[in-house]
Amino acid sequence: MLSWDDQASPKPHTPQPQLQPTFGAPFAEAALNPALVTRDAPVDTTRRVNAADKRIINGHTDVNQLVPFKYKWAWDKYLAGCANHWMPQEINMQRDIELWKNPNGLTEDERRLVKRNLGFFVTADSLAANNIVLGTYRHITAPECRQYLLRQAFEEAIHTHAYQYIVESLGLDEAEIFNAYHEVESIRDKDEFLIPFIDVLTDPEFKTGTVETDQALLKSLIVFACIMEGLFFYVGFTQILALGRQNKMMGAAEQYQYILRDESMHCNFGIDLINTVKMENPHLWTPEFREEIKSLFLRAVELEYRYAEDTMPRGVLGLNATMFKGYLRFIANRRAQQIGLDPLFAQEENPFPWMSEMIDLKKERNFFETRVIEYQTGGALSWE
Ligand SMILES: [Fe+2]
Ligand SMILES: [Fe+2]
Repeated sequence: MLSWDDQASPKPHTPQPQLQPTFGAPFAEAALNPALVTRDAPVDTTRRVNAADKRIINGHTDVNQLVPFKYKWAWDKYLAGCANHWMPQEINMQRDIELWKNPNGLTEDERRLVKRNLGFFVTADSLAANNIVLGTYRHITAPECRQYLLRQAFEEAIHTHAYQYIVESLGLDEAEIFNAYHEVESIRDKDEFLIPFIDVLTDPEFKTGTVETDQALLKSLIVFACIMEGLFFYVGFTQILALGRQNKMMGAAEQYQYILRDESMHCNFGIDLINTVKMENPHLWTPEFREEIKSLFLRAVELEYRYAEDTMPRGVLGLNATMFKGYLRFIANRRAQQIGLDPLFAQEENPFPWMSEMIDLKKERNFFETRVIEYQTGGALSWE
């Protein structure tokens, strides 16, 4: 079991000796379906799969055979994701609607915060979903990791649904919120930072198999897991959960709490994936590559801090942008260490220790106690 998870203490990565591939000469008769694999090397679809031959990238085993497992951590996360299943409509939004419609319910600064917050998230999870489905998925050759990515893609759809459901429930101006990624500079800058890392993987001509393209894939995995899901979401999550802690926007806060639980799993899965790619391909982790990753982290902290300032120009809910400067440095250090880099900033304390408790939410615990329907699995169909 890998242990780079959020709940575990950070452990610097120690590269392991690379296993030697045991597959033989190319199989002349093997049919190569470009929809299933992205490299030019043939896949023997007739031979039984040996788990030791599997690779996260550039593998030569049949991606249709889930078992025998090699990456059990990926399968375990798939099962955990399914066990955490939830849907946005299960959460009662009535108190939020009443509060939003009451002219004295929230201050102008609180309303700005909610709108700017949703302005980022309503499109962010579509970016994440497209990155998985159109980019990452086809370059990953371990079927148990693909299985998790399929679950993750659906969870991203649920998150987009949840944000849309909040916008609709509150009767917000949909055009304003859904166009914020074009129209609000602090949101646009975050998205523009991310988009090149999606574009590289979704390019139909892109193939792994060289040091350059394998590093491009690894960089994109790091940007998505550690920077997008692991850093760019955290100002937004903290803001709405801080509202919930003050008994405001409790329904929205509960939705965000379930999303936070999913996202911390996505981030942990991504970190396991990154560290395993590193173990299998230690030649990719060059000093120049590490320097480039560090500079991406530094830029991301800057962008997220600007977003914090823009959403909280005067300080609100006992939070202010300066507190987030410390928080973002704390998180960036944590993410860097989780993938085996040195901390980026001098010792940073977590100014929001209550966020760790939120991340550790278990399914049976219902912090805000507003969930109205228990999710049922395996319910029988009825045609009556
Ligand atoms: Fe998401
Ligand atoms: Fe995610």
